[in-house]
Amino acid sequence: MEYDIKDIELNVQGKLKIEWASRFMPVLGLIKKRFAREKPFKGFRISCCLHITSETANLAITLKSGGAEVQLCASNPLSTQDDVAASLVSDYGISVFAICGEDRDTYYKHILQVLENKPHITIDDGADLVSTLHTQKTELLYNVIGGTEETTTGVIRLKSMAQQGILKYPIIAVNDSETKFLFDNRYGTGQSTLDGILRATNVLFSGATVIVAGYGWCGKGVAKKAQGLGANVWVSEVNPIRALEAKMDGFNVGPMGEICTIADVIITVTGCENVLNKKHFLKLKDGAILCNSGHFDVEINKKDLNAITVKRRNIRPNCEEYQLKNGRRIYLLGDGRLVNLTAAEGHPAMVMDMSFANQALAVEYLIKHGKELENKVYRLPKDLDYRIAELKLNTLGIKIDKLTPKQKRYIASWQFGT
Ligand code: ADE
Repeated sequence: MEYDIKDIELNVQGKLKIEWASRFMPVLGLIKKRFAREKPFKGFRISCCLHITSETANLAITLKSGGAEVQLCASNPLSTQDDVAASLVSDYGISVFAICGEDRDTYYKHILQVLENKPHITIDDGADLVSTLHTQKTELLYNVIGGTEETTTGVIRLKSMAQQGILKYPIIAVNDSETKFLFDNRYGTGQSTLDGILRATNVLFSGATVIVAGYGWCGKGVAKKAQGLGANVWVSEVNPIRALEAKMDGFNVGPMGEICTIADVIITVTGCENVLNKKHFLKLKDGAILCNSGHFDVEINKKDLNAITVKRRNIRPNCEEYQLKNGRRIYLLGDGRLVNLTAAEGHPAMVMDMSFANQALAVEYLIKHGKELENKVYRLPKDLDYRIAELKLNTLGIKIDKLTPKQKRYIASWQFGT
């Protein structure tokens, strides 16, 4: 079996982490049991480009239980948990090509390595696997039945490929399932982002002024959790509806160029580039902390930051001090990459359970129906989304009400008015 990981002897710790995560992933556990009986993926190869975490390990093990040959590479050079990678290789026989801290060339070499396995299905987080396949390995496209995409940024890229007629196979946007974005993006990003900031800095949020750039589902989660810890939270937005939503959710709203002057902590979660640049860096207070929880490290302009820096030093793990020419010091966490996965462990398994249940069912759907689909980006069918919510409620021991037949008729009718 081929693999490229940091150190296979880290497997013992990795296996414990995978087992711990599995305790909080009961829905995926149920799917795994069914897959083990039915073997829906027998004879299929699945290449995955995901954050290599203990939660991802449980997804890979689930797919393998269904009979698939699974290979993994990282979707971010800094998010790989090397001990988990070691355990996947040594305890579960799953090929992994990922090392925490790998440079850009190695990152893309690893993507090419999982593509060499000639996948029938791709699983992506950010669309680097799909874009590499469509640009550098086009000879392998004929073999692919379909793919899934985990995150907002990836879905945006893939929709753009579909619109330009470049996309050569159907994609299921797992991100767009309600059991994904309402929970993973909001509660997962909310908690894990603050977890990353706290591990990297140990700052006190109570009384701090925190700016959240972007009020999508991730931004909503981050703002709410920061407020919960007692921070005075500001939101910056470009979308007027979201800005209004932020205001009525109880946050202060203003343009970054004006409000950055008062920030103790700024968190970018927009999915867009150049949200913080030289114009802002020069206005920051001494000691301001900057970090990003959007998919790519483009939101904080590191080139601009370096250009106005006289001295840099690593002051704590994942916390870099930049001494600016104006004498002020600012702190960049996790090199401007996803702070929740570089400085912490990503979203808790409890929410990844639903995200990865979506992934597992999306792969099964593609194997059954992929050939009937066009080369477009689809949502997972709604009944599967609801099924995941029902299973999650069951595992939490929560019962809910059911409509009576009469109520169903009422809801479906138009005749009854005042
Ligand atoms: N994305 C965010 N959190 C994650 C996690 N724990 N595992 C995999 N991908 C993630």
